[in-house]
Amino acid sequence: MNALEALEEAHKIAFAPFVFQASVSLRKLGILNYIFDQRKKGGPTAEEISETLSLSPYGVGVLLEIALTSNIVSKNETDNYELTKVGYFLNYNETASVNLNFTHDVCYKGLFHLNESIKTGKPEGLKELGQWPTIYEGLSQMKPDEQKAWFDFDHHYSDDIFAEALQKIFERKPKKLFDIGGNTGKFSIRCCDFDTDVKVTIVDLPGQLKMALANAKDNGFEDRIKGHAIDWLSQNPQIPTGADLIWMCQFLDCFSEDEIVKVLSTCAESMESEAELVIVETFTDRQEFRASQFILEATSLYFTVLANGNSKMYPASVFLRLLDKAGLQLQEDIALGDYHTMLVCKKKAS
Ligand SMILES: C[S@@+](CC[C@H](N)C(=O)[O-])C[C@H]1O[C@@H](n2cnc3c(N)ncnc32)[C@H](O)[C@@H]1O
Repeated sequence: MNALEALEEAHKIAFAPFVFQASVSLRKLGILNYIFDQRKKGGPTAEEISETLSLSPYGVGVLLEIALTSNIVSKNETDNYELTKVGYFLNYNETASVNLNFTHDVCYKGLFHLNESIKTGKPEGLKELGQWPTIYEGLSQMKPDEQKAWFDFDHHYSDDIFAEALQKIFERKPKKLFDIGGNTGKFSIRCCDFDTDVKVTIVDLPGQLKMALANAKDNGFEDRIKGHAIDWLSQNPQIPTGADLIWMCQFLDCFSEDEIVKVLSTCAESMESEAELVIVETFTDRQEFRASQFILEATSLYFTVLANGNSKMYPASVFLRLLDKAGLQLQEDIALGDYHTMLVCKKKAS
């Protein structure tokens, strides 16, 4: 990169929130949709966009100008607009959409407090959403658009591997499964659909548990899915004994390293020698694509400023050290899909 290009990059960062908010508007106002829909006719002019969408020529003009320099749209010699590949993905790629909505509806205002969070180790931006110690107490109480963006983001990064994960864990024929951090109960419900005998206990905060058990009931599984309320950050959290398999997907990244050891040690204490503990995460040191690495690093900042102030997306190397510290030993290390890793552990022999 020469100096001119480097300076351009620096300017892009300085004005990044402008490009972001313009992108949100271009999507919300239907401008990107309209440009794409008109592609076979050679793309619309700014005037056509303004007339069709009942937006002022001024408003459409300022958005299209920044979209042009940001390589979201292109304009031909007759002033007709088309989406570039970037614009296409920004509007139609599911991951980009989920990330953009999450950034806008959940994180944007809170991110303003990042500097404070780095100094205090607290989620200082969370007050923009509500008065809770961590975001997890607030999940069941957020405003509908915030809640939707949060759950869409959360589900997007787990749902795709559920089918593959279910095959792997039910090879082991567990009769009793604990879903730690079971959230909305989605995975527990999938387990009961997949296997007619399994009984599941969802372990989560009381507010979340209420939502999960209501979903379990709606799916006809109130006899097979029960709940155990817990706050892992309390003095002496306890879980029941007797699980054949303890499942935790995208859960341990909600905690600091010391807290992870506390969670894992508590689970290890509840386990019989043959029981297995299965962790599924998107580890930063297991990503093939630069974009995945970037998404995980941005997600870490969400944890810093909004979620809890002290957790992040971790490399697998850290988890392997923490497992050992918690009295667990790794049995299998399996890649799931393109981004996830499943670590299967047992209690160390005493
Ligand atoms: C990121 S979600 C994981 C969702 C789900 N396992 C999945 O794969 O999509 C994290 C879950 O951990 C729970 N959680 C976070 N902090 C907790 C705490 N201190 N005590 C109990 N549960 C907690 C949250 O309520 C939430 O359901």
